[in-house]
Amino acid sequence: MDLGLLLSLDKKLIWHPYTQMKDFEQRDLLFIDRAEGVYLYDGYGKRYFDTISSWWCIIHGHNHPTIAERIRKQLGRLDQIHFAGTTHEGPIGLAQRLKEILPDRLCKFFYSDNGSTAVEVALKMSFQYWKNIGVDNRQLFVSLERGYHGDTLGTMSLGGVPAFEGPFSHLTFDSLKVPAPYCYRCPAGLERYEPGKGRRCSLECFDLLEDRVRQRADSVCAVVVEPLLMGAGGMLVYPEGYLTRLRGLCDDIGAHLILDEVATGFGRTGKMFAFEHAGVIPDFLCLSKGITGGTLPLAVTVTTRHVFDAFYADYDQGKTFFHGHTFTANPICTASALGSLDVFDREDVLQVVSDRASFLQKEKERLLDLPMVGDVRGIGMVAAFELVMDKDDRKPFDSKMRVGWQVYLEGLKRGLILRPLSDVIYLFLPLCTTKAQIGTILEATADTIKQVAKRVGV
Ligand SMILES: Cc1ncc(COP(=O)(O)O)c(C=O)c1O
Repeated sequence: MDLGLLLSLDKKLIWHPYTQMKDFEQRDLLFIDRAEGVYLYDGYGKRYFDTISSWWCIIHGHNHPTIAERIRKQLGRLDQIHFAGTTHEGPIGLAQRLKEILPDRLCKFFYSDNGSTAVEVALKMSFQYWKNIGVDNRQLFVSLERGYHGDTLGTMSLGGVPAFEGPFSHLTFDSLKVPAPYCYRCPAGLERYEPGKGRRCSLECFDLLEDRVRQRADSVCAVVVEPLLMGAGGMLVYPEGYLTRLRGLCDDIGAHLILDEVATGFGRTGKMFAFEHAGVIPDFLCLSKGITGGTLPLAVTVTTRHVFDAFYADYDQGKTFFHGHTFTANPICTASALGSLDVFDREDVLQVVSDRASFLQKEKERLLDLPMVGDVRGIGMVAAFELVMDKDDRKPFDSKMRVGWQVYLEGLKRGLILRPLSDVIYLFLPLCTTKAQIGTILEATADTIKQVAKRVGV
């Protein structure tokens, strides 16, 4: 079909996610026609780097042949089957493979089909666990301001990004939200934590959390966080020690620790899972996005034998976990996930990415000298640049100026997809991005920022 016609039909028929459709009254959406490796190609053949891994899920690049082959083989065999009372090879094989790369304690696998449901399952399981063992007072979830765990009402109840959850505040349940470990704007008013360098904090932000949590220790059901990298809240990177102390606190007060690795899982932070950096083991681990290499939707909530046992009972005891989705453990999606794990093994991805990640983390620092760039942060294959009006006092731009959006539009001209989080510009790169490509992307990002800075007069 003609490209112009497709674009006008899109405007006529479709309502896009996280999009103010009026922004596209005078402009077209970016029409992507095909993809290969780290590149996307628009309807005119123009090439873009997939700098945000297609919403943080692409791991080995687009259309990886190993994943494509697994999917092709599966398609002729079993396409879809409900997962209650039936089973099939894909999810069994996948659980076995995941078990091999996870700590022994994490050994029970509950499948669903997206990141929000992976977290929603953990919340419901944790909540019901306490009921099942006869503890009625543990009903409070603790989460971080600026945290993000999905768009369902349950996960929004723990979210801390006001723009996303604000309109729904009357629909969500109460939770205890504590200040985020946002080093650039430290909630305890200190300078940045930099291991081995200059002035160090002692994780006073964790003290804030601990004080608040201890006051309600007996009622806490679980603490839910994104480990080390808080994505949608602004790509905030926080120290490993925070997670270690959080695990200790949960143990001490007897609450569950839920780690939402929907965005950080599968190598993005340089290790297979972000919790490995801190050497902690959660009671619930939520995985999705990159689990299939990013090709198809799938999620899994992994928990312990101990949690599972609290649900294992004669049916009439009412301890069953009544939760499930139509496409739970879909055979084609699990085939894609197995293909992605094959790629990790065959191409020694974690080894290869370590050099690329170090390069990105070192080179990203150069952008701190640019106008508007107040902070540069990152981990693994993720780098973020917080744009501010005044670098000395960290004054943010007036949101009406839409500086992040301007950077996005300018980036498109340079073949980058810099979809911002407010005024935070970030790179969330596929693990297959080479050092040469990283260099090109950083240079083009710097040019983009300079251009917009000139336009806004900073
Ligand atoms: C940490 C985290 N949790 C949960 C989700 C929700 O995942 P989904 O969009 O697949 O529902 C996201 C999505 O960005 C995420 O970053």
